Amino acid sequence: MMDKVENKPAAPAKAPAGLEGVVAAESSIGDVDGANGVLIYQGYDIHDLAEHSNFEETVYLLWHGRLPAREELEAFRRALAENQTVPEEVMDFIRRFPRDAEPMDALRTAVSALAFYDAGARDLSREGALRAATKLTAQLPVLVAAFERVRKGGEPVAPRPGAGLASNFLHMLKGEPPSEREAHIFDVCLVLHADHELNASTFTARVVAGTLADMYGAVTAAIAALSGPLHGGANTNVMKMLLEIGSPERAEGWLRDALAAKKKIMGFGHRVYRTEDPRSVWLRRFSREMGEARGETKWFEMLERLREVMFREKKLYPNVDYYSGSAYHLMGIPLDLFTPIFAVSRVAGWTGHILEQYANNRLIRPRANYTGPRGLKYVPLDER
Ligand code: COA
Repeated sequence: MMDKVENKPAAPAKAPAGLEGVVAAESSIGDVDGANGVLIYQGYDIHDLAEHSNFEETVYLLWHGRLPAREELEAFRRALAENQTVPEEVMDFIRRFPRDAEPMDALRTAVSALAFYDAGARDLSREGALRAATKLTAQLPVLVAAFERVRKGGEPVAPRPGAGLASNFLHMLKGEPPSEREAHIFDVCLVLHADHELNASTFTARVVAGTLADMYGAVTAAIAALSGPLHGGANTNVMKMLLEIGSPERAEGWLRDALAAKKKIMGFGHRVYRTEDPRSVWLRRFSREMGEARGETKWFEMLERLREVMFREKKLYPNVDYYSGSAYHLMGIPLDLFTPIFAVSRVAGWTGHILEQYANNRLIRPRANYTGPRGLKYVPLDER
């Protein structure tokens, strides 16, 4: 029997392109004040967190809505360490991935496979979902580093118990522990990327979680959303742009040509910020520091030239992806891992939003403003 079809629903207002300005969730996790360039996580200013916090504490804050006491933070660090072992079957699967696979595709596929080996994956209670969130946060860095090792013909490096997630990731990636300063800079990068309100991948995660699908499915979908060049993929493209430009002297001419050809310049512009992205203030500092430390300041000089010209010509500010790539590049991280690294951090926000969605769920099912014809008569194939 057919459902009664509402043929002429009250016409919804025309959807704003890209849902700009639409409020689609109630959330206490993070907020972006685009006019004033302010980003907060659970009430705390991002500058305060970048200055004083660390990734593990920030994850706790996003999930629990408050900063942990010392014992709570220690217990959380232990839980992450106990949950960072990736099932051997998934490691074997990664060994069979094509070596030229996009690392974001490898990560998406591996995360999806993790669900096979978590018997509690379908437990969507707060406790069960927190367990899955802990596993995902602990294992994403292991997966990214493992794929990098394997595609270079090596073997994954085991995480060191007791080391922080940032330091461990760099160690697993390169096979040697990073300097303290490098680990710190990377840790702050993770803090800066951990959440950003209802960005495209977080919205994706909430839509999937809203169907009461499990956390692995929601995070897999979020990784797919993050992979696009208009979202997390921009950081890699900024570095590709710098490599193409080659030297600071060429920056202005290159940019003018690109703008004349109506190209979108990666790392500029934002749907919400109308002023400087507060995260880019920190990343700019790190890009400069890493350049000076490595005696390779040309990337930063190019970025600064491009920034000046872009502001003059288009009044656009750099976004979070603008400076991060150069800092990662100077840490010796391959370009195509920049977006997976974004995921290693953003999984904190995704899972925080999924927890929030489960706690007060209603299926997310908006309407489309139908613009096609109605009442057409079906024409049999032979008569068309
Ligand atoms: N380079 C050149 N022009 C840009 C631009 C960029 N990076 N970003 C925005 N603009 C221009 C657009 O061409 C448009 O101009 P117009 O009105 O003359 O057509 C105007 O600014 C508005 O841009 P629009 O693309 O409609 O904004 P949006 O809110 O839909 O998109 C982004 C936001 C982030 C997707 C967009 O700025 C972009 O593509 N940036 C580059 C990719 C990137 O860095 N993404 C990471 C985001 S954190």
